[in-house]
Amino acid sequence: MIRVNCSWLAVLAAHLVLVTQANAQAATEEGAALLASSGCAACHGPQGRGTTLAPPIVGSALTAEAFRIGVRNARGAMPSYSVEVLSDSTLDTLYAYVSGRAGVDAPAGSDERGAELYERVGCYSCHSNQGQGIMHGPRIGPDPIRWARFVWYVRNPTGQMPPYSSVVLNDQDLADLHAFLASRPRPQPVESIPLLAP
Ligand code: HEC
Ligand code: HEC
Repeated sequence: MIRVNCSWLAVLAAHLVLVTQANAQAATEEGAALLASSGCAACHGPQGRGTTLAPPIVGSALTAEAFRIGVRNARGAMPSYSVEVLSDSTLDTLYAYVSGRAGVDAPAGSDERGAELYERVGCYSCHSNQGQGIMHGPRIGPDPIRWARFVWYVRNPTGQMPPYSSVVLNDQDLADLHAFLASRPRPQPVESIPLLAP
């Protein structure tokens, strides 16, 4: 009797695995189809991996909140999608799809090498020597934008900034620059400045 039960359980377990796989497969297909039917794929690529037109949106580094803001209050060349055009539930399904796909992680970077590159290729001339920003370019450290977006922007800037191709700066160079920017000193807290202390 026990043997019969065990084999029955094994069949049930195998069936559950198949159903789970089928569900995951269906969710993936639904996500990919939504990305296309909502128009996102035209700029972000069929799997959200990015194109020259738009940054990658895959990977869990993009939080649900950043995703929602990115879609509802879009920046730059990205059109904003209101709730009438794209419902909250479609937004959730899209996020579940893109966040479940492997993103691109930054290779380990060296802030020392990054500092040297930052001088050599001239980032400092517009973003100032510590990335704090000046008239010609905004602040870009000590909290640089997330890796996938950083790579995309430096290669495909949309405003005044000149593009740096992968021939000029490869992924390792960009990881070093990203590490350098992340390691910049933070401004002094206001409370530590006697004249400004509340
Ligand atoms: C016409 C091209 C275009 C379409 C269509 C488009 N995007 Fe974008 N998207 C962009 C661009 C360009 C950016 C980068 C904007 C910037 O910051 O300059 C962007 C940024 C984003 C961001 C923010 C990413 C980040 O790192 O902060 C999210 C999230 C996003 N898009 C999701 C979507 C989704 C979901 C759709 C479909 C519902 C969509 N986009 C449709 C071009 C597009
Ligand atoms: C000629 C001036 C100039 C140079 C040189 C330059 N930038 Fe920029 N950068 C800008 C400006 C201006 C912006 C604001 C957006 C725009 O107009 O493109 C910007 C934006 C950025 C952003 C996006 C910031 C954000 O919050 O979205 C990053 C990242 C960045 N620059 C990194 C770099 C790095 C790294 C280098 C060196 C490899 C560099 N920049 C060289 C002018 C410059």
